[in-house]
Amino acid sequence: MDLAAIRTDYRGDDISTLPAEPHRGIELWLAEALQAEKDATAFSLATRRQDQISVRVVLAKDISAAGLTFYTNGASLKGNQIADTPSVAGVFFWPNLHRQVRFEGSVTPVAAAVADEYFASRPWESQVAAAVSQQSRPVASYDKLRADFEQAKKDFTGRAVPRPATWGGYLVSFEKVEFWQGQPNRLHQRLLYTRKGSAYERIWLQP
Ligand SMILES: Cc1cc2nc3c(=O)[nH]c(=O)nc-3n(C[C@H](O)[C@H](O)[C@H](O)COP(=O)(O)O)c2cc1C
Repeated sequence: MDLAAIRTDYRGDDISTLPAEPHRGIELWLAEALQAEKDATAFSLATRRQDQISVRVVLAKDISAAGLTFYTNGASLKGNQIADTPSVAGVFFWPNLHRQVRFEGSVTPVAAAVADEYFASRPWESQVAAAVSQQSRPVASYDKLRADFEQAKKDFTGRAVPRPATWGGYLVSFEKVEFWQGQPNRLHQRLLYTRKGSAYERIWLQP
């Protein structure tokens, strides 16, 4: 496979009109990505505990002036790393739009009532699956996991599944957000927002 010969021509609009608040820029780009991409809300999330760094894809479930919210099992690898070092980095990649948004920030659990409300809005089978999965632990057999799921479906028939104690939401508060727009001839545009008090300073970076 000749990976070195693969070339993509990047192009896009001038991004100097992006708003002063980075969360508004992410909302604008997400709205366009939802039309252009399959899994537009998916982003790669990097977490760490001392010198152990890991990354995986999760789904953004809210963007606001407060930051970005995602949901997961707090007893997972990422949950344990966040409990140790509440500082994360993330990146959205929207290939059809030739765009990337990366961000860094501190992370805090969302209020239990917020997590309850989101958990209750998920499909019932997803709630059951969250109740039976001990995310990131070894699994003895997928047959056993499926049997546990079927048993839990029977146990919860006709009633709401309570949110597992370890399952919840996390809010990433943006310290830095960088918008990357591909441009012809590799002269890509990069706009970096860095939090300064209650506002963000903006600088342009070389490609
Ligand atoms: C498209 C996609 C979306 C995903 N969304 C989530 C999510 O929102 N929350 C989550 O906990 N895991 C999600 N996952 C699974 C994670 O990538 C990962 O396998 C899991 O959270 C365990 O990660 P950890 O062991 O590093 O904690 C998603 C995976 C993919 C490919």
